[in-house]
Amino acid sequence: MCGHDGRRGYLQHLLVLPQYRRQGIAKALVERCLASLEAVGIDKCHLDVFKTNLAAARYWQSQGWQLRSDIDRYSFTRAGNDNA
Ligand SMILES: CC(C)(COP(=O)(O)OP(=O)(O)OC[C@H]1O[C@@H](n2cnc3c(N)ncnc32)[C@H](O)[C@@H]1OP(=O)(O)O)[C@@H](O)C(=O)NCCC(=O)NCCS
Repeated sequence: MCGHDGRRGYLQHLLVLPQYRRQGIAKALVERCLASLEAVGIDKCHLDVFKTNLAAARYWQSQGWQLRSDIDRYSFTRAGNDNA
């Protein structure tokens, strides 16, 4: 999934089923997202990765994505909603 807020792109939930990995599917999906963002004038895209997902960290870094250390993510959960 990919969207934008008018200034920055946001990529979410990239997943390829294990039996289809290492065939360039993720690379093609991400490229389509980045090209579509670029087409509407957005050249920078963000995404979140759990710190425990070391394989994903290796993947994004292998694709040239830069790990940010200058941003903290804040979340808020409405009372009564246990969907963290
Ligand atoms: C990460 C993921 C989406 C990659 O999907 P994929 O279709 O296998 O990736 P691609 O085939 O497009 O890989 C392109 C290149 O990325 C690199 N790459 C792919 N998987 C990698 C990994 N686990 N570690 C390091 N580099 C990786 C390789 O350079 C690869 O090229 P190569 O096969 O010629 O060496 C897939 O492993 C996945 O679904 N993982 C579980 C979900 C997940 O963690 N998603 C990210 C959450 S933010």
